Amino acid sequence: MRKTRVLTGITTYGTPHLGNYVGAIRPAIAASRAPGVESFYFLADYHALIKVQDPARVQRSTLEIAAAWLACGLEPDKVWFYRQSDIPEIPELTWLLTCVAGKGLLNRAHAYKAAVDKNRAEGEDDDAGISAGLFMYPVLMAADILIFNAHKVPVGRDQVQHIEMARDFGQRFNHLYGDHFTLPEAAIEEQVATLPGLDGRKMSKSYDNTIPLFAPRAELRKLIAGIVTDSRAPGEPKDTAGSALFQLYQAFASQEEAAAFAQAFADGIGWGDAKQRLFERIDAEVAPLREKYDALMTRPGEIEAILRDGAARLRASHATPLLQRLREAVGLRDLSRVAVADAAAPVRKDAGAVPAFKQYRDADGKFYFKLVQGERVLLQSVGFASPRDAGQRVAAIKQGEVGDAASDFMLGEDEVNAALAMFVAAQLDGGAGKA
Ligand code: TRP
Repeated sequence: MRKTRVLTGITTYGTPHLGNYVGAIRPAIAASRAPGVESFYFLADYHALIKVQDPARVQRSTLEIAAAWLACGLEPDKVWFYRQSDIPEIPELTWLLTCVAGKGLLNRAHAYKAAVDKNRAEGEDDDAGISAGLFMYPVLMAADILIFNAHKVPVGRDQVQHIEMARDFGQRFNHLYGDHFTLPEAAIEEQVATLPGLDGRKMSKSYDNTIPLFAPRAELRKLIAGIVTDSRAPGEPKDTAGSALFQLYQAFASQEEAAAFAQAFADGIGWGDAKQRLFERIDAEVAPLREKYDALMTRPGEIEAILRDGAARLRASHATPLLQRLREAVGLRDLSRVAVADAAAPVRKDAGAVPAFKQYRDADGKFYFKLVQGERVLLQSVGFASPRDAGQRVAAIKQGEVGDAASDFMLGEDEVNAALAMFVAAQLDGGAGKA
């Protein structure tokens, strides 16, 4: 049976904190051990450059994050573990996808739109301070995913749009050049634990309220002592609801332990004691990982070798051959070879007839078009109000703008795409004049 390919990208930004551990690292490593899964984990260091332009920080962050995942149990001989920038085929694919990506779609990407909205609110020019890197972020991410034909991409809600875009670019590419890409699906993490930070808000680097995952024991204790609480004295019953302290404890405790801690709250445990118990609980889980992490951090060469090895094997088995096929498919070809028939053209083998668009008016007075191949109707449009509307739609399709297949055509999206692929293939073959 073919395994499901699950791919996870980790932006190499900041120092890993408890929120990353509970929300991302721990569940992802557990998931990598599920049967029937082929897991891909990579350090998205090209993505990091969009945010961080301090080279020493980029390097430091990449090292810390790689060490953290390894220390937490990622097994590089069982999963693919690599660094984005070690695979030059990724930026190469990014360009191929850039050329089929709709700019209008990118305009609507949340991260870019948020930056534009902020500029507007501040009375700045729309694109002030926005790099093309931020704008193109979704295309690079699509390349990350499509290059390994990932089936599933676990993401939070904020990233779902990016997966939709990867599907869109992949589909458009497939339609133009043949069936090269698996269209990925977002595996939405609904109940991802978000941890509160020191100030009670979500733990996040941007709030500067994080607890570093591998803070030394003494520092961990000190940070935990600084978590906000209310001012109830020892002996007074305490609320677990809304307590950052309690939520943090819960993220590391079994159900029984959490219940016992809740009881202690009800019994009026003092905040100092509660913090000590939280510290001991977290440290019990983290201490062995910290030991591995500290050891790894003294041997960065080993981490470098692991990452390079992962990338080298992936390039040899997947990326390099894929890009060879894609270059061929788009026409970046050896000039000394006689032009060969296009691989994306199933029509040439099985049918003599060239697909053609036919426009007509039906009894209902509306204007229609269909794509036919001999007797076969490959595609049937819905009715348009005027012949001009129908004609414009046909012209757009001939330009490769499939648009919203679901609302425009009577066939299902997949059938429509297959029909259009046939049409394009026939055009490439010299049938354009007749169509
Ligand atoms: N954009 C992701 C994030 O911010 C990181 C990422 C980059 C990624 N490329 C990816 C995630 C590909 C999944 C798949 O978290």
